Amino acid sequence: MSLSFEGRVVLITGAGGGLGREYALAFAERGASVVVNDLGADTKGGGKSSAAADKVVEEIRAKGGKAVANYDSVEDGEKLIQSALDAFGRIDVVVNNAGILRDRSFARISDLDWDLIHRIHLRGSFLVTRAAWNHMKKQKFGRIIMTTSAAGIYGNFGQANYSAAKLGLLGLANTLAIEGNKYNVYCNTIAPLAGSRLTEDVMPPDLLASLKPEYVAPLVLWLCHEQCQENGGLFEVSAGWIGKLRWERTRGQIVRQKNKPMVPEAVRDQWDKICDFTDATKPKSLQDSMALMVNVLSDVESEVKANPTAAEGSVLGIDPAEAVGQKLPSSSFTFTHTQCILYALGVGMSTKDPDHLRFLYEGHPEFSCLPTFGVIPSQSTIMEGGLSSIPGLNIDPTQILHGEQYLEIYRPLPTSGTLISETTVADLLDKGSGALILLDVNTYSDGELVAYNQFSVFVVGAGGFGGKRTSEKAKAAVPPPKRAPDAVVTDSTTRDQAALYRLSGDWNPLHIDPSFAAMGGFKAPILHGLASYGFAARHVLKQFANNDPSRFKAMKARFVKPVTPGQSLQTEMWKEGNRIHIQCKVKETGDVVLAGAYVDLHNTSEASPENLNQGGALQSDLVFTEIGRRMKDAGSELVQKVNAVFGWEITKDGKNAAQWTIDLKNGGGSLNKGPYSGKVDVTFTVSDEDFMEVVKGKLNPQKAFFSGKLKVKGNIMLSQKLEVILKDYAKL
Ligand code: NAI
Repeated sequence: MSLSFEGRVVLITGAGGGLGREYALAFAERGASVVVNDLGADTKGGGKSSAAADKVVEEIRAKGGKAVANYDSVEDGEKLIQSALDAFGRIDVVVNNAGILRDRSFARISDLDWDLIHRIHLRGSFLVTRAAWNHMKKQKFGRIIMTTSAAGIYGNFGQANYSAAKLGLLGLANTLAIEGNKYNVYCNTIAPLAGSRLTEDVMPPDLLASLKPEYVAPLVLWLCHEQCQENGGLFEVSAGWIGKLRWERTRGQIVRQKNKPMVPEAVRDQWDKICDFTDATKPKSLQDSMALMVNVLSDVESEVKANPTAAEGSVLGIDPAEAVGQKLPSSSFTFTHTQCILYALGVGMSTKDPDHLRFLYEGHPEFSCLPTFGVIPSQSTIMEGGLSSIPGLNIDPTQILHGEQYLEIYRPLPTSGTLISETTVADLLDKGSGALILLDVNTYSDGELVAYNQFSVFVVGAGGFGGKRTSEKAKAAVPPPKRAPDAVVTDSTTRDQAALYRLSGDWNPLHIDPSFAAMGGFKAPILHGLASYGFAARHVLKQFANNDPSRFKAMKARFVKPVTPGQSLQTEMWKEGNRIHIQCKVKETGDVVLAGAYVDLHNTSEASPENLNQGGALQSDLVFTEIGRRMKDAGSELVQKVNAVFGWEITKDGKNAAQWTIDLKNGGGSLNKGPYSGKVDVTFTVSDEDFMEVVKGKLNPQKAFFSGKLKVKGNIMLSQKLEVILKDYAKL
């Protein structure tokens, strides 16, 4: 379909000749009503005549187009827009094109040379655009063009005044693009090169003739069309070629050390690194630019010597083949009832509500831990920057967003003790605009799996590595039913909600420090996404499960927008069997903060502790216990015979359910349940069922390996000794 401007009203300043005339003719030819503005000045801004604009209007009308002339200077911005409104009743497009030159070498530039150039180019474009702005905002459509110049972008001898004003226009456009964006008012900047009276003194005649203005107009038309979603772009255009420009920034170098003054010598010594464009980044916004500084501050604080965006010498990039399956160092989390209570307060529980007491008072006969406390022990590895240590995952840590969270609880959480969490990179997805990292975290209490978390971490700008877009491992968000919610609970967060929640272990200054928040582009510190998650979970627990934590099975949510502490949260809930769909909004703004969310509950009967125990018990547990007993009997004889450490990861329903280590290398040998700190020679991963098949002799381990039922990591040759152990020591 050809691009039509039927019904659109277009104002082009300085359209009496050169490029502006060409734009006017092209817009009119495609159905636009055109205001042809031109003061009829000479190239230096002197003189005045209506002839230039009139001639173009005549040309357009002769071809059957719609046009009126306007002879005001762009310094009378309101009058130009009024012409459009008087003649055609609206204004859709403004092309700021009028311009003059007053070239002089820098020292010879007079005040007038400087002021005139700024008045016509920069101030003129400001005045005309400001006059159109509210009309465009109200009608939720507007397209604005600013005309800069290569002289502005790169500098040019004898054009200091012109360069300054021309690059000023780019600055103006950058901010208009941001302010107009949500009203569908877009502003782009072009740097044309074409033969016109402005360039006739600087270009040889042949070149002048061949660089036709009609090679520039099509870009202007496209950028001004309603179909074009480009906003804030900068384009060079000439001779039939169009290219886009952007900023580039070196990885840079931190030259400051903790508790030491920053000195110029350090700048000198690091100069090569500061200026090295290898692996340069392309910040797109003020937020992009400033987000880095948050990282720098914390890097200086923690005395990281490398440059702020990557370890020294490392190259940003993602290699799924290398990263997927990698484990982060396991983390240990020791807690007492204090942490449980602190968390409950952090997610808004209050003694105002008598049935909250079981989560707030350790002396309560049913004192329990909120199920969503299960996210807390799992986050420490990730918080401690473990992600950047993973091979194949060289990402810019300032670009990380917590996108989604899935939590599943296998048995009610203890109210004190030590929990061990094991984090694995489950998958890596290429979402184009970024990379999505799926992190699976299994949390164990005394070797028993108590919780499973899946963090979906989005890394802005890290996409395009050629990876897959979806993963069967991802726990998907699910949209709520399309009917009115079955229940809605409104709850207020307090001004200090984030200040309180962070004491549970997420110390990111974004949630407390106004200057950090500002650097991230927020007006004020924001509440933790996982705090809203906790609010929503307890709303469901109260509404549908009588505040009984053992009914909680799982929860999923996608974090859409932040909450400012003090705002009210409104949780809408839909019951569909054992699944409670949730949508969580900020009441004051109506903004959705948690989307695609749900809580799965256990049936009342299913949730009894006996059933949970039964459901959690693995057949393989018995075998390992037996192996352990027999190992003791056999003593060091077996250690001499086997001389290896075997690790086992037993899965149930596709998830890690237990971890065992058989040490037949050290001392008299030992059996260990749960995370193991020593070196393991070979690790087997197998489902509980298949493990039993192997033990019973119904499944040959080699066959299990080739069919993918048994995965082996480490010294695969040692698997041969496996049969010996299983055969001799697991007779049931
Ligand atoms: P041009 O001189 O042919 O067109 C400029 C028009 O603006 C003239 O018709 C002039 O009467 C009008 N004008 C001057 N002061 C005015 C005022 N106060 N109010 C209303 N109209 C006024 O020049 P050309 O080459 O078509 O330039 C158009 C724009 O493109 C200018 O902003 C220029 O700086 C820019 N540009 C042009 C390049 C080229 O290669 N032609 C290179 C880079 C930028």
